[in-house]
Amino acid sequence: MQDINTYLSNHKQRLLDELFDLLRIPSVSADPAYVADVEAAADYIKNEMEKIGLENISIEETPGYPIVYGEKIINPDLPTVLVYGHYDVQPPDPIELWESDPFEPVIRKTDIHPEGAIFARGASDDKGQMFMHLKAVEYLLQQNQLPVNVKFMIEGEEEVGSPSLAWYVARNHGKLKNDVIIISDTGMVANDVPAITTGLRGLAYVEVEVTGPNRDLHSGLYGGAVANPINILAKMIARLTDDKNRITIPGFYDKVKELSPEERAAIAHTPFDLEQYKKELGIADVYGEEGYTTLERQSIRPSLDVNGIWGGYTGEGAKTIIPSKAYAKISMRLVPDQDPEEIPDLFEQYFKQLAPKAVKVKVTNLHGGYPYVTPTDSPGYKAAAKAMKRAFGKEPLPIYSGGSIPIVPLFEKELGSKSILMGFGLNSDAIHSPNEHYGVFNYFKGIETISYFYDFYKEQLT
Ligand code: BES
Ligand code: MN
Ligand code: MN
Repeated sequence: MQDINTYLSNHKQRLLDELFDLLRIPSVSADPAYVADVEAAADYIKNEMEKIGLENISIEETPGYPIVYGEKIINPDLPTVLVYGHYDVQPPDPIELWESDPFEPVIRKTDIHPEGAIFARGASDDKGQMFMHLKAVEYLLQQNQLPVNVKFMIEGEEEVGSPSLAWYVARNHGKLKNDVIIISDTGMVANDVPAITTGLRGLAYVEVEVTGPNRDLHSGLYGGAVANPINILAKMIARLTDDKNRITIPGFYDKVKELSPEERAAIAHTPFDLEQYKKELGIADVYGEEGYTTLERQSIRPSLDVNGIWGGYTGEGAKTIIPSKAYAKISMRLVPDQDPEEIPDLFEQYFKQLAPKAVKVKVTNLHGGYPYVTPTDSPGYKAAAKAMKRAFGKEPLPIYSGGSIPIVPLFEKELGSKSILMGFGLNSDAIHSPNEHYGVFNYFKGIETISYFYDFYKEQLT
């Protein structure tokens, strides 16, 4: 039998080339212009599954983009691991800020990645991380060493809120039956500080439309006498948070669980350099809810952000109008036990109250997801911790992340299984930003760690 590190060094170039081919497919789920590419990415995954020797492979049609399924059942009496990942990516915009083509991967060295990082949209989120799972199972199957059953479900709509996934999961309880779900779509603290994510924030995402007069008006003839919906929207948004940076929506914090002093102390022990953080982001100071640290603000406290705001004239030069309409996209990150079914209603009631009679307000609920926390004493967590310890030589830290993966709480509700968030990204990977990248070290370390997971998981259960 060949050990994993020998295997990785013997196949290094091929393992990079195969990922690069996947990264070349611009599978942007948000933009209908890329339909054929998203489908091509699904095909690519299906072919990979065939090449590594999975069985019952299929491109599962859904009302949206397909889910690619494949499995290897070595013995129905053994435990089953379900791997989830996504092959869709965020739009590359603003494209002019990329130093190289987002869909032509290249390896460049960075301060954090002296051995090189792969620059491409999806390199870290989530093609690079999802692909590690296929490659770890490729190795185990080639060595005839897969110790448990494995099922893969790779979706293509994660970046647009997984609209078809609930539909699919509800219809496939039997097929997806598993003992644990493993997902690499999160991050670590640093390359020498491995971590397992034990908390995710939930999400409530709304779009608002404020309408003033029935058409754009001459701002000289009407200015001062008619409500300008952009001015009004700006005032309304300003009132959503107070001078302590707390969200003012009545009832918003009612279900927020406060952490115990012990839990807060654990967060305070996570390595974090505030000066470095500010420097990396080019900001003179941090900003957030009074009474909480930066790590707390971005993980265990809820937040509200305007993602985009538009309306009126934004072309060259000056045009003198009072616009008829103003819009904003507003997201709220939620923490246990806030409910993404309730929060948009609370938002809508309050937001409408904030508006003067001179404008009409429409609020549309775009999508949402529940927050998630998982214990550190489950067999899956313990196996993941042992695998990381073996690969990194260090015990991983449990960390709360501020990001959201809405299907994780959905899996727990529908399939009754825990998800282990064994991610290998870094915050500096620039996911969703220009120049997204993923360390070459992280890619290979991830494959190595995942290959250990399966043995440790079997050991936990038998
Ligand atoms: N992989 C991310 C989520 C993530 C990244 C969690 C890093 C923790 C650490 C995922 O692809 C993502 O971007 N999720 C969206 C939510 C979705 C509903 C669009 C998010 O968090 O904004
Ligand atoms: Mn992701
Ligand atoms: Mn993402």
